[in-house]
Amino acid sequence: QGEHTVSITVVGASGDLAKKKIFPALFALFYEDWLPEHFTIFGYARSKMSDEELRNMISMTLTCRIDQRANCSEKMDQFLKRCFYQSGQYNSEEGFCELDRKLTEKEAGKLPNRLFYLSIPPNIFVDVVRSASRTASLPSGSGWTRFIVEKPFGRDSESSGELTRSLKMYLEEEQIFRIDHYLGKELVENLSVLRFSNLVFQPLWSRDYIRNVQLIFSEDFGTEGRGRYFDNYGIIRDIMQNHLLQILALFAMETPVSLAAEDIRNEKVKVLRSMRKLKVEDVVVGQYKGHTRGEKSFPAYVDDPTVPNDSVTPTFAAAALFIDNARWDGVPFLMKAGKALHTRRAEIRVQFRRVPGNLYRGSVGADLDMATNELVLRVQPDEAIYLKINNKVPGLGMRLDSGNLNLFYSERYQREIPDAYERLLLDAMEGERRLFIRSDELDAAWAIFTPVLRELEDKRVAPELYPYGSRGPVGAHYLAANYNVRWGDISSDGSF
Ligand code: BG6
Repeated sequence: QGEHTVSITVVGASGDLAKKKIFPALFALFYEDWLPEHFTIFGYARSKMSDEELRNMISMTLTCRIDQRANCSEKMDQFLKRCFYQSGQYNSEEGFCELDRKLTEKEAGKLPNRLFYLSIPPNIFVDVVRSASRTASLPSGSGWTRFIVEKPFGRDSESSGELTRSLKMYLEEEQIFRIDHYLGKELVENLSVLRFSNLVFQPLWSRDYIRNVQLIFSEDFGTEGRGRYFDNYGIIRDIMQNHLLQILALFAMETPVSLAAEDIRNEKVKVLRSMRKLKVEDVVVGQYKGHTRGEKSFPAYVDDPTVPNDSVTPTFAAAALFIDNARWDGVPFLMKAGKALHTRRAEIRVQFRRVPGNLYRGSVGADLDMATNELVLRVQPDEAIYLKINNKVPGLGMRLDSGNLNLFYSERYQREIPDAYERLLLDAMEGERRLFIRSDELDAAWAIFTPVLRELEDKRVAPELYPYGSRGPVGAHYLAANYNVRWGDISSDGSF
């Protein structure tokens, strides 16, 4: 006794997320000695598999970082030896009873703690929580039992509330760790450091100096292979209501009392509750259509056999959101998210106001846009922070030029950036809730988007079609123009 052990059970072990993200993240933590000395990993799923087969499956997806190449295969073997498998149904207690028996055996002589990662479709969340909590939870007075759940958390306010109520029939709120993996991304975590530890930004962070904020997510691939899931949700639920809104909340919140999880989450909830419900006229929706480039042709969203031919589910959306509080009154927060666009990128762009009484207004090269500063946080790929400033072109004349003050992570920090799931898994094991979503936060997030989602669906609003691999619907440009804004990621000639 006295020594702790943690058992991590990945429910839905043969799924995509588990294979691509969760097992590799656990291995990366193991490699860097972040996992506790005593730990066991279990995969749980319906298919029959031996421990050896699970190990083979996992081993295909494990990789070592460039700076970890030494002993890589040795470390992998050590890791795989700690991985086991239990098959069972998701809604029956038998499988979980058997799992409990095996976990207990491995925990012998140590103080146990159990973490369940639900990497499963949402329609079986509650079944699994019910069965697992009844049969494989540790008794009170023993170590902790925690459940990590991942979106979708319902489809709207009502279904999300229903899910929360069902989960809370079996679990306490502090046992539930709702993941939004964007919160585990390095640049998103850094947002608070940038804001609250740099004097130069603090006074600028309000409507007085900021003209608009843009939160942009784009992927250069479609929903291939995920059409069935995606068609039921669409891009607003898949990206905006969670990933982009979470970034917005961190960007806009007031200074928290401390870095403690509850202090931060209290501030985020305040911002979300100060936001106006999104209106349908402030949204543009799009859907990608097939496109042929040279020899290669790219499919339309509706070409996916699991998607109905007449689907109006948006694969792209742009929206203008507002926070009705003293700091942000009137500042548009523009979001844009899309699949099958020309590039893969996630970034935050802050466009500052014009310099009042600018002396250089008439100078060569200094058009109105050039006079505004822009701060960009590139979340991915190639993490970077840069600030666009106006500068004199060296020489005898007076020509202005817009240049960047750059902080490129690859130049400044010669290390690979951990995957978001590594941070989040570690935090869940340590009981650090800062990066997980509290249920009142989730309610507030749904309240902003539920009315517009309902309206779009009731009216079957037709999305504007855009070619696979393009810059998305032109409508996004008009939406921004309504607020006198130009998207910062559009090239300077304005082309899409
Ligand atoms: C997920 C969405 O939450 O995030 C996916 O369901 C999306 O549709 C993914 O592709 C993007 O995550 P990342 O970390 O690859 O940017």
